[in-house]
Amino acid sequence: MDTMFLNKNIVITGASSGLGAALAKELASHKPNLILFSRNIDKLKEAAKFCNEKGANVISVQGDVTKLEDCKRLVETTINNFGSVDHLVLNAGISMWAKFDEVTDLSLFQKLIETNYLSAVRLVHLFLPYLKKSKGLITAISSIQGEIAVPYHSGYVASKHALTGFLNTLRMELSAKGGSVGKDKGVDVMLVKPHWLRGTDLRKNAFDKNGNKIGETKKEHSKESISLQECSRKILKGMVNRKRELVIPGKLKLLTILSLLLPNLAEKIVLGKLNEQE
Ligand SMILES: NC(=O)c1ccc[n+]([C@@H]2O[C@H](COP(=O)([O-])OP(=O)(O)OC[C@H]3O[C@@H](n4cnc5c(N)ncnc54)[C@H](OP(=O)(O)O)[C@@H]3O)[C@@H](O)[C@H]2O)c1
Repeated sequence: MDTMFLNKNIVITGASSGLGAALAKELASHKPNLILFSRNIDKLKEAAKFCNEKGANVISVQGDVTKLEDCKRLVETTINNFGSVDHLVLNAGISMWAKFDEVTDLSLFQKLIETNYLSAVRLVHLFLPYLKKSKGLITAISSIQGEIAVPYHSGYVASKHALTGFLNTLRMELSAKGGSVGKDKGVDVMLVKPHWLRGTDLRKNAFDKNGNKIGETKKEHSKESISLQECSRKILKGMVNRKRELVIPGKLKLLTILSLLLPNLAEKIVLGKLNEQE
């Protein structure tokens, strides 16, 4: 792995906190060129400083993945500074925690789709000509909720399912491995599907039933939650091996298989786990 990321141009969206920042920090010692993107420039610069000190060459770009002009500026900055892109890591995301029949503000569904799904469509479209040239890798941070449903997360689950469907289709169109459509083969797609992660701001920033941010809660993380470092290390390994999918932890893959074969049982297991957490 030591030289796999050396001088590679790696764009990470949502790098100001949580998994995006952790990934950037984990990558930094491999001395890549990192292009970090998100709205909060102060937190982005903090992550950039850390990565810089670890040996990475870093550029911070302030912007919003839901705004086309900001996404265009991210591409221009990347290409003007580094000339190409090897990795596009689609990580920026937001969530919700509300039972659907209690939701009063439906605009949160629009925001979830814009941020978690349509931003990927936009960014992939803009970066694709460069990714084709470099035979690059698209790594998308989806969720286990891109495969299975979880109560209180209807809009989030829907956005991650959309992301899964979109990128599974692109893989068939673009990948050298199994792709059979189109001429420009060589862009691979890895979908990352983590379980709950510890130490991120996702829950704090999640929408409640009125479309407001939930804010700090005293709720403990599930015993089965994963650390950011463990998750980042697994993602880096997956990037090196250009895996098509990473379920983290791996044992959760069984649940996705069960949800196809015995959906009622899979739903009972998910409800049981949720009730344990309540
Ligand atoms: N936490 C979990 O349990 C978990 C589990 C499975 C999957 N995931 C996925 O992991 C990814 C990272 O989430 P996280 O848990 O690390 O949460 P987080 O700490 O809240 O990080 C989310 C990142 O996305 C950025 N972001 C949000 N909206 C944005 C926008 N409109 N434009 C640009 N950047 C935006 C945020 O930066 P700014 O606010 O600075 O813009 C932040 O850097 C998400 O896709 C999430 O769905 C998380």
